[in-house]
Amino acid sequence: MNFEYTEEQLAVRDAAREFAQSELFPGVIERDTEAKFPKDQIKKMGELGFMGMMVDPAYNGGGMDTVSYVLAMEELSKIDASASVAMSVNNSLVCWGLEKYGSEAQKEKYLKPLATGEILGAFCLSEPEAGSDATSQKTEAHREGDFYILNGTKNWITNGNTASVYLVIAQTDVAKGHKGISAFIVEKGWEGFVVGKKEDKLGIRGSDTHSLMFTDVKVPVENRIGEEGFGFNFAMETLNGGRIGIAAQALGIASGAYELALAYSKERKAFGKPISQHQAIQFKLADMATSIEAARLLVLKSAWLKDQGKDYAHASAMAKLYASQVAMDVTVEAVQVHGGYGFVKEYHVERLMRDAKITQIYEGTSEIQKIVISRGILR
Ligand code: CAA
Repeated sequence: MNFEYTEEQLAVRDAAREFAQSELFPGVIERDTEAKFPKDQIKKMGELGFMGMMVDPAYNGGGMDTVSYVLAMEELSKIDASASVAMSVNNSLVCWGLEKYGSEAQKEKYLKPLATGEILGAFCLSEPEAGSDATSQKTEAHREGDFYILNGTKNWITNGNTASVYLVIAQTDVAKGHKGISAFIVEKGWEGFVVGKKEDKLGIRGSDTHSLMFTDVKVPVENRIGEEGFGFNFAMETLNGGRIGIAAQALGIASGAYELALAYSKERKAFGKPISQHQAIQFKLADMATSIEAARLLVLKSAWLKDQGKDYAHASAMAKLYASQVAMDVTVEAVQVHGGYGFVKEYHVERLMRDAKITQIYEGTSEIQKIVISRGILR
């Protein structure tokens, strides 16, 4: 067992840390308040290679391992989880799904510009009445010659307006249950495709979350990913890896809040000494540090399993379940350590607390992670 990072992994982590401080930190409070997407920052993240980190260099990617990706996600999420979710969806869901299951033509046309961050991708599974129960899709696509005609609505889509390429999961034969679901690549601007309202959210307010409407959108058959009927399995496989990214995001939110609480506790004095010298605060810091370290081990283990080509489905669900709970617990405690200052925007921890909540909801709620884990255990 080796707990050391490689030099390359450390270089990626340090580059992400430096970028987060110099480029994401300035303006992060304003972007949150105004619900403004970090467009310029995401562009720079693409230039630095953060948008297609694990993609084969043959398709313009960074050719890095999942451990490096996790380290970068943690560092960026410490500062700006709105930017890191755009990165996570692009890397783990869109690029990974296309690289693993896309045709050569799809990779040439879509993966290459996605991997450089020149364009952004979105993953469209959830619907108004189908979130956790992903087989209950109402969006449907029926074949007419060389096209599928796509109709339906998708909800809570990350990168909903800023994306150029959308991976859309839809029913192609409702009688076949999950074997009647297929995946398609849809481009922004196609006739009948309308980006709906932007969600006004509790957290990750800078991320661009929209509903999408498809009315008789003509999707060429060559834009189907894999065989007809493969869409549900495609989504499940893709989400297994996506959960590693979100687990790393949760870890970053937790460690960002912890670092702020630790620094504050050394500065703030009460009863004649820094509050870090009071056992009440020391116990909080000890609990925070321990749970963060445990979450980090689960996140890294799931990334390592993926890099080794081993089964990581229930390991990534464990990592996401635990890290997202830690993100919630640690951010709440970080606000508490800050006292009244924790409740105001200027000190950042209230934002991290709001951002933490979504990590227990998207890419499968905590309850869904428990289903995946228990299936892994009972298999
Ligand atoms: N990995 C791989 N395959 C899986 C799988 C997993 N974790 N879970 C299920 N499958 C496969 C099964 O093996 C089965 O395949 P075969 O028929 O080929 O054997 C198939 O999927 C159907 O399995 P089930 O009958 O068990 O499926 P189910 O209907 O009971 O659902 C579920 C299982 C785990 C609850 C699933 O519906 C699920 O994960 N739901 C949550 C969906 C989700 O995460 N949505 C988030 C939206 S995306 C998002 O948030 C992105 C964003 O913008 C940030």
